[in-house]
Amino acid sequence: MRLSETQRLQLAHRSVRRFTDRALEPAHLEQLIRCGQAAASSSFIQAYSVVRVVDTASRAAIARAAGDQQWIVDAPAFLVFCADLRRVQQACLAAGAGAIDGYAEHGLAAVVDVSLMAQNVLLAAESQGLGGVFIGGIRNAPQIVVDVLRLPSLVLPVFGMCLGWPDETNDVKPRMPVEMVLHQDVYRDASPQQISAYDETMRSYYASRSGGARSADWSSVTARAVQGKQRRHMREFLAACGFFRA
Ligand SMILES: Cc1cc2nc3c(=O)[nH]c(=O)nc-3n(C[C@H](O)[C@H](O)[C@H](O)COP(=O)(O)O)c2cc1C
Repeated sequence: MRLSETQRLQLAHRSVRRFTDRALEPAHLEQLIRCGQAAASSSFIQAYSVVRVVDTASRAAIARAAGDQQWIVDAPAFLVFCADLRRVQQACLAAGAGAIDGYAEHGLAAVVDVSLMAQNVLLAAESQGLGGVFIGGIRNAPQIVVDVLRLPSLVLPVFGMCLGWPDETNDVKPRMPVEMVLHQDVYRDASPQQISAYDETMRSYYASRSGGARSADWSSVTARAVQGKQRRHMREFLAACGFFRA
């Protein structure tokens, strides 16, 4: 089946971490945010806010908190995407419907809302030749992000995003075969053969991207990433922000 323009764009996605000096104008960013807002929203609660971080010292503090990711400092635009239940809370209180503080369901809806919105922002940007990368590293030390951006309760920083005009073009990372992620009628675990075939695919990808220097596969990279970033402070942090308590 022929791919649409949009599908070609989606399949060409790769994260960008090096940018030219060209600025991202405020009006352009607003247009991208409007595209983000066009995403579907759970019960139309629109439970997100985005903070553009312009202040140099704030950027540097967040970059440090995120594990010294230099692209946070260098990118023409750096955004922090927050799950935001404050307006929802205001609506509930105004309607006399009680507070929503802490409910897991609403927290989940807000995290889904902001994620869908952010992916729309990135895709809109990519459609115009911009590039970017999500920054989950802000959750290494999320309280620093809260303090620097003065986020009130019920506003949870979920990830950042660097945006700008690409100064690098990485190869597209091969995704898992569709059969591993698309199930029919009932769930089926991936077989060890499927996992090792994908490990082989990723081993070749990492080797070719690093000129043969990097020997890694999907399983080893995943295990290191996941176990090396348990971020055990997150449970307490979520509760402190008013999320996932009840
Ligand atoms: C929620 C989320 C958080 C991420 N956090 C980081 C990050 O902190 N730093 C970074 O360099 N890349 C980060 N990434 C980018 C991923 O590493 C990247 O999307 C993945 O390796 C696939 O590569 P690709 O985007 O080039 O296809 C993040 C991606 C997502 C979706």
